[in-house]
Amino acid sequence: MSVSLLARKKIQALVPYQSARRIGGSGEVWLNANESPEVSDFNYDGDQLNRYPEFQPAALINGYAAYAGVSQSQVLASRGADEAIEVLIRAFCEPNQDSVVICSPTYGMYSVSAETIGVEVKTVELDSDFNPDYSALAAIDSKIIFLCAPNNPTGSMLDHAKLSKVLEAQRDKALVVVDEAYIEFCAEQSVQGLLTDFDNLVITRTLSKAFALAGLRCGFTLANAEVIEVMSKVIAPYPIARPVAEIAAKALTTDGLKIMRERVASLNTIRSQAVDELSRLKIVKQIFPATGNYILIRFDDSARIFKALGEQGIVLRDFANKPRLDNCIRMSIGNQQEVSITLKAIQGLERS
Ligand SMILES: Cc1ncc(COP(=O)(O)O)c(C=O)c1O
Repeated sequence: MSVSLLARKKIQALVPYQSARRIGGSGEVWLNANESPEVSDFNYDGDQLNRYPEFQPAALINGYAAYAGVSQSQVLASRGADEAIEVLIRAFCEPNQDSVVICSPTYGMYSVSAETIGVEVKTVELDSDFNPDYSALAAIDSKIIFLCAPNNPTGSMLDHAKLSKVLEAQRDKALVVVDEAYIEFCAEQSVQGLLTDFDNLVITRTLSKAFALAGLRCGFTLANAEVIEVMSKVIAPYPIARPVAEIAAKALTTDGLKIMRERVASLNTIRSQAVDELSRLKIVKQIFPATGNYILIRFDDSARIFKALGEQGIVLRDFANKPRLDNCIRMSIGNQQEVSITLKAIQGLERS
């Protein structure tokens, strides 16, 4: 069965909006898109801002496809990975009928996006070691299964053999979306190699983390070309602004990738040192696997730590009120100085 048949019936039949850029054309006089003939006074150094951008800017898509080692037809650029999540649900889940699966505790936007669209959210809890319950996922009846690796906030990774079994069991039934927003921090563990074997595997990525471009709002989906085609029907006609495409394409050049990899190596070193120091403290009860640019820490009394750090102007993310994450705080890996200040402050709270 073609994986595109998993899409909502209406979407399968939908003729995408024929934007001026999609229709295209050739010539010198462009009067087909109700654009301004003049470049705005507030222009930037790049291309003409009075003109709509390409639907999927070629330089950007080529750059990401080359970086990810897939073909251009397997890549969709979006306004952050968050937009990819929303577009997948809108394209594949019939409101009031289909469901998505989340593996809690995990990133919050899968359920928020599903709920705003009227799609039921089923929860399959991570097991006692915070790993996915693969057999439950293989058996579940749903349209999209969301997994996140590194999982935000627990840092859990995926067992590729077990994931393959889920993909096999869900073939022709459900998409399995693996959110790899943080994958550059442990690049060798990407599930991307499974794309060739499973047309129901979808991977979401972003420039917001390792590429240091959260303000740019640029993310990507890697998937079978048919899934990308379905998503292309649903996403906005011009999802990537010209300046965004231009900056993002620079980040994906050989130089840009080198800078990104150096940053990742440096942040990973800072992270390892932080894990070492934290593990020596009596107030620290558990350190979750540190696989992304963050560490989830369980303290003996996180409310006391969170409050004391806040009073010193150190803002971390409190997870204590989330199920199974009592006394947990997530610390992002900032620069050496920020992490040192934070560790010193935490060490100062160690009870004598
Ligand atoms: C797991 C995960 N996925 C996706 C996102 C959102 O990425 P983007 O900034 O590309 O929308 C985040 C942001 O924190 C995240 O933690």
